[in-house]
Amino acid sequence: TIRKKLVAGNWKMYKTLHEADAFAQELVEYRDMLSPSSVDALICAPFTALCGLGEKLKQVHVKLGAQHMHEAEQGAWTGEISAAMLQDLGCEYVILGHSERRQFFAESDEAVAKKTCVALDASMVPIVCVGESLSEREAGATQTVVSRQLGIVLEMLQLQKAKGALDGAFVIAYEPVWAIGSGKSSSAQDAQDVATLIRSLVTATLGQRAGEQVRIVYGGSVKPDNIQTYVQQPDIDGALIGGASLQVASFVALVEQVA
Ligand code: G3H
Repeated sequence: TIRKKLVAGNWKMYKTLHEADAFAQELVEYRDMLSPSSVDALICAPFTALCGLGEKLKQVHVKLGAQHMHEAEQGAWTGEISAAMLQDLGCEYVILGHSERRQFFAESDEAVAKKTCVALDASMVPIVCVGESLSEREAGATQTVVSRQLGIVLEMLQLQKAKGALDGAFVIAYEPVWAIGSGKSSSAQDAQDVATLIRSLVTATLGQRAGEQVRIVYGGSVKPDNIQTYVQQPDIDGALIGGASLQVASFVALVEQVA
């Protein structure tokens, strides 16, 4: 396949600046293991740890990303962070619409869609998160929910494309909410089925090329000992990892398993 694998750590609200620096420093020893040409290794750090971290991670072949972003260019949005601010700090990626943002900070599908366009405009790679809750899964609504969450994003991207403004890669993360931080990961086959649906939705709205190029990653209780079962699936191109990305040894092991 033409798609490069992505191993993306999401640190969530963990690690002070000092702890983040120590993590990057410890990675130096694993430098060679982190540079396989088949994998992009990425850390999405808290805002407060971003400054200076990109340079340090670059030395060990790891990319830097953020976990959230506001869609406005600038303005009276107390506490928010813009695309330009993230770009300024060397962020190449930004996670958008993580289920924790949707659930606890009321982020709508529409806001996520706007942010996706803004991130692309700023030449950052958006990682758009989708996924069903436990009750939605039990009601057999997984495909409906994922299609709805992606619907507006793809519509807006289609408009961008029509304007000739859609260049640059994007990533879609399928994270079933019940699998996040629970130790209950989705079966690889179930994740593959949703990834197939996602790829077909992208192909249907943005065309064959976009469908082939979009990277789809799985998230939800991914560990070094199960990551391979996901990335072996034909439509799964990597993983978004919370808990297991916090320790150096397991982050390196995750990358090694995929390389
Ligand atoms: O963004 C990462 C996901 O929410 C997964 O978290 O690996 O701790 O289950 P987890």
